Amino acid sequence: MSQPPGVGAWDAMTTTMEGSAARHERPAADSVFVRACRGLPVPYTPVWFMRQAGRSLPEYRKVRAGIPMLEACRRPDLVAEITLQPVRRHGVDAAILFSDIVVPVAAAGIDLDIEPGTGPVVAEPIRTEADLDRLRRLTPADVSYVDEAVRLLVPEMGAIPLIGFAGAPFTLASYLVEGGPSRTHAKTKAMMWGQPELWHALCGRLAEITLEFLRVQVAAGVSAVQLFDSWAGTLSDADYRRFVLPHSAHVLKGLRGAGVPRIHFGLGTAQLLTAMGEAGADVVGVDWRTPLDTATALVGPDRAVQGNLDPCVLFAPWPVVEREVRRVLAEGRAAPGHVFNLGHGVLPETDPEVLTRVVALVHEASAR
Ligand code: CP3
Repeated sequence: MSQPPGVGAWDAMTTTMEGSAARHERPAADSVFVRACRGLPVPYTPVWFMRQAGRSLPEYRKVRAGIPMLEACRRPDLVAEITLQPVRRHGVDAAILFSDIVVPVAAAGIDLDIEPGTGPVVAEPIRTEADLDRLRRLTPADVSYVDEAVRLLVPEMGAIPLIGFAGAPFTLASYLVEGGPSRTHAKTKAMMWGQPELWHALCGRLAEITLEFLRVQVAAGVSAVQLFDSWAGTLSDADYRRFVLPHSAHVLKGLRGAGVPRIHFGLGTAQLLTAMGEAGADVVGVDWRTPLDTATALVGPDRAVQGNLDPCVLFAPWPVVEREVRRVLAEGRAAPGHVFNLGHGVLPETDPEVLTRVVALVHEASAR
């Protein structure tokens, strides 16, 4: 397949992983979570929850009180504390670094904020070629606080793996082009179809920023990375393959050989699962709309899956939660590896005690 013009925009300038700290021994390299990501035998199914570090926890609300979201993301001590809270409370098999997908874009020059109850809001959306100049290349020094937070966390976590993450080019582009969250992604799609060269140039830059951001986290010691393409499910397979896949593949393939499993997640992606598998991840995240055995048939037999309990099930009576957890575990057995998770993030109103019970149930019901 020929590459669209934006792919690898800054290739010549990016550093390689060779010889860097990326290949050092990671204490959690043989953890149940990393083994499941690689499709290796495990004693039980590992579990963690997207958005496990957040507003469902009273201890999170306490430490975040009065501190704006982006400021919290830039304070390594606070990032470390919030990242560890769900590990202490729930006994999950992995922690995800407390941050946000817009952190590297803000670090690369875009004026934005994260508004409570709304999400990321961009002061001046990107709509023209001239606007692209405001999105510069990311250097490790731009996100030194992330490097510092990971280096604080890894020794403290021992054998528990830390997951680094970033937003994928399409989902990031949507925030930058729309100026904030959008239900239809109309302006984003208008640029994609109407100004394909500008679209590919924007996604090319975003792919390089994302790749550099993930490389910083890998070099600092994370045990896995997750690429969040939360809003890609709004696209058809044909548009995804033409306008998005080459850029996400550039990120995922850029981390091949980095020594950490790569997870690729999107919401409502039933029509995209085969393409998302082709993009190059080791694990494909699946939401609750597609059973994991169906997803496995679509992503291919050599990839693990992650998911996919409906986050709303956690509001149902316990016998229903238990039945649904067991169903997800049973369907996950079709894949070479299964990491139990929700199909999307923990909702803020969730009772944290239910999450703790789900972790115990997953461990007990999957023990082999
Ligand atoms: O616990 C974790 O999963 C780690 C931390 C994390 C956050 N955001 C913290 C956060 C992660 C992995 C993200 C990723 C993220 N951010 C995504 C991809 C995952 C997904 O949910 O699809 C997206 C699309 C964003 C953008 C974003 N940031 C949204 C839509 C919101 C919610 C706005 C709101 O208040 O309802 C945010 C803010 C945000 N990111 C919060 C947290 C804990 C809430 C801020 C707060 O507590 O004040």
